[in-house]
Amino acid sequence: MNYKDIIEKVFHDTKGLTNKGKIATYIPELANVNPTMFGVHMTNLTGEGYGMGNNLVKFSIQSIAKVFSLTLAYRILGEEIWKRVDVEPSGTKFDSLLLLEINNGIPRNPFINSGAIVICDILVSHLGNARKEFLTFVRDLSNLPNLSYSDKIADSEKANGYRNVALCNFIKSLGNIKNDPTEVLDFYFDMCSLEMNCEQLSYAFTYLANGGLKISDSSEVITKPQSKRINALMLTCGFYDESGEFAFKVGLPGKSGVGGGIVALYPHSYTIAVWSPPLNPNGNSFLGMKFLEEFTTHSDFTIF
Ligand code: DON
Repeated sequence: MNYKDIIEKVFHDTKGLTNKGKIATYIPELANVNPTMFGVHMTNLTGEGYGMGNNLVKFSIQSIAKVFSLTLAYRILGEEIWKRVDVEPSGTKFDSLLLLEINNGIPRNPFINSGAIVICDILVSHLGNARKEFLTFVRDLSNLPNLSYSDKIADSEKANGYRNVALCNFIKSLGNIKNDPTEVLDFYFDMCSLEMNCEQLSYAFTYLANGGLKISDSSEVITKPQSKRINALMLTCGFYDESGEFAFKVGLPGKSGVGGGIVALYPHSYTIAVWSPPLNPNGNSFLGMKFLEEFTTHSDFTIF
């Protein structure tokens, strides 16, 4: 079977399952999404792709954007970055405060909220206008000149993001936030509000399947060793408390978001994005996880 046949078969099989997930409502604006949306798109390294369902409908990529912010901060700071954030799975929920006190304000990894907030602090320190320059960076790496933040989603999270406010202030008290917490959080909420569809998202991640180079013109987004490390972090920490399970069931580095999106990739081969808004209890797309598990279990498209 070629990849198109496999995508079609697994898409239809997964669509037939009872969706036991629940839409995220802690960001009120996210609750307005249609729960039956289901899209998938695969892109290979020549830029050809194949998608099904609602693959061209934009959604809130949320935590998936943390991969782009880590990429930009790693580019700027190099290995110094690991003094501010660790590289270990947390074994806790994505917005947990639990380990910060024990670890002196050094978040366990850059993908849990605390770690991503520290990465935002780094970008605020090093960029004149983090909001603007981050958007330019993602527009360029994804060849999407019209990509933008959703003010509606960002404002909705700003008005309700009490846990993130707590995380940022707590880390500030422990000395690992250098800027004004409000400024850091404003940028963090904007970053999480980026909107893309599955086709755009799978294309945007191709640099990580291509040794850090853009597939369109071979320009360097990050170095090859840096790309290796970001992939390793996605494999070990991309799904929070479910990272082990994702590696066990799917066998690919990947990243999820509470908007119901998941991106996964097979280095030197392809990227794939799936979107279905209802989430499982760990905050990852219920159908997205099922789709990717079936997709890699019945094909050669897995690293294991
Ligand atoms: O900070 C938050 O809670 C959201 N902006 C992002 C969380 C998220 O996407 C977790 N992913 N599964």
